[in-house]
Amino acid sequence: MKADFGKRVAAACGSVRAISDYVPELALVAGTGLAPMLEEIDVAARLPYEEIAGFPVSTAPGHAGELILGELRGRRVVAQSGRFHLYEGWSGDDIVLPVYVMRALGAERYVVTNAAGGLNPELEVGSAVVISDQLNFTGLHPLSGPNDVALGLRFPDMSRAYCPDLRAAKALAHLPTGIYAAIHGPEFETSAERRFLSMAGGDLVGMSTALEVIAANHAGMRVLGFSVVTNSATGGPDQQPDTLEEVLENAAIGAVKIRAAIAAMLDAGEL
Ligand code: HPA
Repeated sequence: MKADFGKRVAAACGSVRAISDYVPELALVAGTGLAPMLEEIDVAARLPYEEIAGFPVSTAPGHAGELILGELRGRRVVAQSGRFHLYEGWSGDDIVLPVYVMRALGAERYVVTNAAGGLNPELEVGSAVVISDQLNFTGLHPLSGPNDVALGLRFPDMSRAYCPDLRAAKALAHLPTGIYAAIHGPEFETSAERRFLSMAGGDLVGMSTALEVIAANHAGMRVLGFSVVTNSATGGPDQQPDTLEEVLENAAIGAVKIRAAIAAMLDAGEL
């Protein structure tokens, strides 16, 4: 990250604090097609990204672009409706900025959702999967450059990148788990790339999340992640062509399951 990144975080935080003094405990990120999950929030403040100093503005389909503060089933949350991707041309700093802003606002836990292709044929399209770990194949490392110790350690531990305690929640026991392989995009992977990612241990493949989760660990947050399997991405002989339409349609189906899982965790005091 750039040497003045801490200042950038402070400026963005200042924009939020000029509107609201709400202190969240939980950060939520709604990925492709997952914004409906945020409809249940009893909104205290809503900030379009354009109104937050230095914030990028999302261009990706299915991404709205606002920060919402409010109560979700009795828990104080800050939610990112719409996120930023490398394939849009944003830098690593742009992509992880919201993570540090939400941390600075007070959030101690980071719940991230995304749409992903299923590398593992056992994962059904339309299902919700709890992310157990990640492979960063984006070619980018958001912490490269000078480290600001006020934000986190120079060499953060990533051995528990997705918090084992959160993953062990009873409310998640019925969901499959999988390793998320992140790629740069925007092109979907070739079949050979998918077979490679699968051999490397990936169950899911997508174009987001990994950099944010590195940042969330750096910032000392506990992370919980979910993918919706939006398309079969085995790279096998029966591999079908990928379309955005299919991805968005199935993201909506899986989002309902993620929403229910998060609701159940909140109601059981597990999140
Ligand atoms: N590959 C990468 N990103 C994705 C996919 C995929 O198959 N599906 C949804 N996001």
